[in-house]
Amino acid sequence: MASAAATFDAVKTNLDRAGQGHLLAFYARLSGAEQAALLAQCAALDLAGLSGLIEKYVKAKPAAEVAGAIEPVHAYGLDGTVNGKSYDRAGYLAKGEALIRSGKAACFTVAGGQGSRLGYDGPKGCYPGGAVSGKPLFACIADWILAVQQRYGSRIYGGGGLVIPWYIMTSPQNHEATVAFFRQHRFFGLAEADVMFFPQGVMPSMELGTGRILLSSPGEIGLNPDGHGGSLKALWSSGAIADMERRGVEEICYTQIDNPLVRAIDPLFLGLHRFAPDSSGEMSSKMVRKAHAAEKVGVLCKVGGKTAVVEYSDMPETLSKKTNADGQLTFDAGSIAVHVISVAFVRKLNAGAGGFSLPYHRAEKKVAHADFVTGQPVSPEKPNAIKLETFVFDALPLCEGGRSIVLETDRVDEFAPIKNAEGADSPATCRQIQTRRASNWLAKAGLGGVVPMSAGGEPDCVLELPPTTALYPEDLRGLSVAKIAAGEKRVL
Ligand code: UTP
Repeated sequence: MASAAATFDAVKTNLDRAGQGHLLAFYARLSGAEQAALLAQCAALDLAGLSGLIEKYVKAKPAAEVAGAIEPVHAYGLDGTVNGKSYDRAGYLAKGEALIRSGKAACFTVAGGQGSRLGYDGPKGCYPGGAVSGKPLFACIADWILAVQQRYGSRIYGGGGLVIPWYIMTSPQNHEATVAFFRQHRFFGLAEADVMFFPQGVMPSMELGTGRILLSSPGEIGLNPDGHGGSLKALWSSGAIADMERRGVEEICYTQIDNPLVRAIDPLFLGLHRFAPDSSGEMSSKMVRKAHAAEKVGVLCKVGGKTAVVEYSDMPETLSKKTNADGQLTFDAGSIAVHVISVAFVRKLNAGAGGFSLPYHRAEKKVAHADFVTGQPVSPEKPNAIKLETFVFDALPLCEGGRSIVLETDRVDEFAPIKNAEGADSPATCRQIQTRRASNWLAKAGLGGVVPMSAGGEPDCVLELPPTTALYPEDLRGLSVAKIAAGEKRVL
């Protein structure tokens, strides 16, 4: 075994060559265990790969790479048509329900993000998501799973028995806190054996402009999670795919943690993903119509004939603003980061010849770190670092023949993300959308009269409608709901 001094020399030489020698600047100050840990961290860096990434993304701002002509997608519409022709919504729904009943669907939530915009201290899934109950975002998804298990399990097994396993991607930074939170809350009523956690990969955070890797403390490299695109590798390397295959799971219902209204398991979406004639059955996406041309959401389109997401910042303004003869935006398919991904697709990506890689995206962020000279903590007031992340939607063009379907959904029904502390996509707008949805569903079920409305036509109350009460508006029919008082907060 090499002596500690020899290991130090070898690591230092490699770091110096790559211009990262500063990572060992405080080595002499560290305890023996800290020194060993830092050397191991440094030795694990892919310095050659990082040098290329630093030149491309940190020292420069690469122009958007949109690989081909951009055309609109033909989404499966809420109106029951696709590209002007009707499709059999009820038939696809029934097919998706059959997949769920036969245990072929799993829930997958990416929860490894840092939630820096929200500024919440802890895993974002622990943040209150229920508009009235304040139940955590994790519980919102757990309730969805429980409701689906109950609805589709009881019919064939005569009282439960259906298991929808839940896979949760954490990050090395929030893994332990996430697992502890689930233990503390007794897995929100789910069976512990059917909830699996695995941490995603990481990338070093780098100083803006120079590409020097940051130290989070004198003895530790500053790492950030490698983006939700990292899920496609982590699902494989963690053994989650092997676990799914053992269980007979074939379809992964992918959701983010920050949207308490997400239809975590959607039979219609599953049915279309698996059986629509223009689907490769590998990866599919949901969209909502963009609220306006400048809305900051990625747009599902065809790029060079393949389904893809173009980020709002990469979309040429002329296309963002382009309208059809009826005045509707031509590129209106806003991505809501909800996908169905087949287990076979993740296997193919990881185990197929040549492997796969997703492009990196650069984000300028404020990253606290140890001062390069003194080692003292620095909390920057403006962005000081580049984080490199991959995005899951960049796997869409890797589907067979670029064939990947898109399903339109209603924004108020399924999309109330919590991203920011205030303003758009904040806890306040999330509560408002939850209330609006509950009010809409009550109205559709013939119970609209119980909701107090303000002069502006908005519900004058706060409502929360858990999936265990209703998965669809029809489930509310015949329910007895007492009149809601103005200003009241009610869980239905
Ligand atoms: P966002 O892009 O909103 O990022 O993640 P974020 O990290 O939660 O928040 P900000 O940008 O720091 O404010 C969308 C979803 O992807 C997950 C998040 O947990 C969230 O569910 N995600 C993001 C990961 O799982 N890993 C990542 O590396 C990044």
